[in-house]
Amino acid sequence: MTPDLFGTPQPPELTCLPGFANPYAAALVATALAVAARAPWRIMHTPGGRRMAAAMTNCGSLGWVSDERGYRYSAQDPQSGAPWPPLPPLFLDLAARAAAAAGFASFVPDACLINRYAPGAGMGLHQDRDEADLSAPIVSVSLGLPAVFLWGGARRTDKPLKFPLTSGDVVVWGGATRLNFHGVAPLREGDHPLTGRARLNLTLRRAS
Ligand code: SIN
Ligand code: FE2
Repeated sequence: MTPDLFGTPQPPELTCLPGFANPYAAALVATALAVAARAPWRIMHTPGGRRMAAAMTNCGSLGWVSDERGYRYSAQDPQSGAPWPPLPPLFLDLAARAAAAAGFASFVPDACLINRYAPGAGMGLHQDRDEADLSAPIVSVSLGLPAVFLWGGARRTDKPLKFPLTSGDVVVWGGATRLNFHGVAPLREGDHPLTGRARLNLTLRRAS
């Protein structure tokens, strides 16, 4: 956090917290897989009908979904009609502490999108803008295989900076950069002790 002229804390544009989640990485992976046992991994489609490269599921009172009707949050898993599994206390606690470390006090997420990338999968530049409350930050946790995070600007055409992320790294953004474009470069081949040939990403957000 950098104080401005008046001493007001200013959230930075992107905070990387290397290894922040390492003490809990194995428990986070096990918990994410327990969520996926109840709300199975699925490949969602963009409103334009394209398959996404990462498999996804959600936990929390709201879950992010995408289909021909558009991008939105839903209280139910459309595949089962049941509510998403609740947000595990471990996720809530980690998100609040990472947000606080990045200068965002009292972050209470209500949605966690869980992405699973195989080698070769990535995610194109996009904005996270389906949330009702844009004052809350985004906390993104990397587990398993490494990836390169692409951190763009306010416009899609802004050239992204590249941040290598490894297992246990947490990135946080919000405030002035809450709507910045971001993405993930296609993963390189690899095998990780925690996840095998996969990277898991937890994106914790305040959606309502
Ligand atoms: C996302 O923006 O939804 C995913 C980011 C990541 O996998 O690191
Ligand atoms: Fe995103």
